Amino acid sequence: MITSKKIEELKNLFIKYYGESSEEIRFFTSPGRVNLIGEHVDYCGGLVFPAALTLSSVAAVRLNNSNTVNLRADDLDGLYSFSLSNTEAGKELKWGNYQAGVIHWLMDNGYEVRGMDFLFTGDIPFGSGLSSSAAIELTTAVAAASLSANYNEKGYDLINLALIGQKAEHTFSGVNCGIMDQFASAMGKKDNAILLDCATLNYKHVPLNLGEYTLILANTCKKHALGASAYNKRREEVSEGLIRMNNILGTNKENLCDFAEDDYIKAEPSLPADKIRDRVKHVIFENQRVKKAVEILEQGDLMGFGEMLKEAHISLRDLYEVTGFELDTMFDVACQTEGCIGSRMTGGGFGGCTVNIVKKSAAEDFIKSVGSAYEAKTGITPAFYVCDIGDGAREIKI
Ligand code: GLA
Repeated sequence: MITSKKIEELKNLFIKYYGESSEEIRFFTSPGRVNLIGEHVDYCGGLVFPAALTLSSVAAVRLNNSNTVNLRADDLDGLYSFSLSNTEAGKELKWGNYQAGVIHWLMDNGYEVRGMDFLFTGDIPFGSGLSSSAAIELTTAVAAASLSANYNEKGYDLINLALIGQKAEHTFSGVNCGIMDQFASAMGKKDNAILLDCATLNYKHVPLNLGEYTLILANTCKKHALGASAYNKRREEVSEGLIRMNNILGTNKENLCDFAEDDYIKAEPSLPADKIRDRVKHVIFENQRVKKAVEILEQGDLMGFGEMLKEAHISLRDLYEVTGFELDTMFDVACQTEGCIGSRMTGGGFGGCTVNIVKKSAAEDFIKSVGSAYEAKTGITPAFYVCDIGDGAREIKI
């Protein structure tokens, strides 16, 4: 949660770095996200169920009357710059390629982006599977669109900005991600999750009434390496899986999530018994699980919802193989701990966080006992965050 004190400090640091000017300093923010269920289905046209966190990225931004975009962060040394006449050069930046990518695609979209100075801060732990990169992308997008020369005429549509963020990630950082993270960061709503159909971008906000329960994020503190080829590899595997399913069933579906569980059962005997078959099974069943889980949640059956989270983790562990020792250990110890009725990895996997549904009255004990059991088994000290659900990308008016 970024407090007004933090904003004041950011402003002072901004002036220290960039000096005084008659131009106004403005503040923009966009959150990280937790995905409650629907993992590794967004790029298969599936349903996902994320929620925006109150952990967020924040930037102080000011026009600099030049043709250059300058980037700094409060926890990094150095200045990272690129020219608006050559945004492609932003790909080579050691830090700041997400921002350069967003500005590149905003300009391509008709925004007359102007030279600006940025200073970033935030409280989303990096590499924790909570989408710090999507948060930076959406903070940049809302800021650069708002300060563009033709903002009065163009305004902005948050879903369009989410798509620009995704494009930036594909082209400027080489991660072939789906739309879930940018969408959640753009469209989050306090105390609501978002049921999003990634094939159509139709969505609805669903109130998260957890009653005597709360969500706790357990960070394995094992950094995930999304850029590492494993994520892109999964995308290739499911593309191959879609071809196989269409061939076997004589269909011409566009997305793997257009198939129902029954289609899979029918095709299974003809699918080669390899990893691609496992990936396909995960995707099709996970997509159906989201539908059921949200229905169950809307009926107030939190226990049933929690059970579906556990099933989802097991599928990600055994069929999609994106968990690993640390996430599985965190999952196992959480499931054995009193007061916890649901748990699973969240995000891309290979490290990062689990999300847990825990009785409020047991939360403190949960953190203590899961923390020590996890540390004893892995040698890593974990971190925990009680998960508050916040709003999406916006300007902070002070
Ligand atoms: C990462 C990607 C998302 C999504 C998840 C897995 O967070 O950025 O698009 O694919 O992994 O569900």
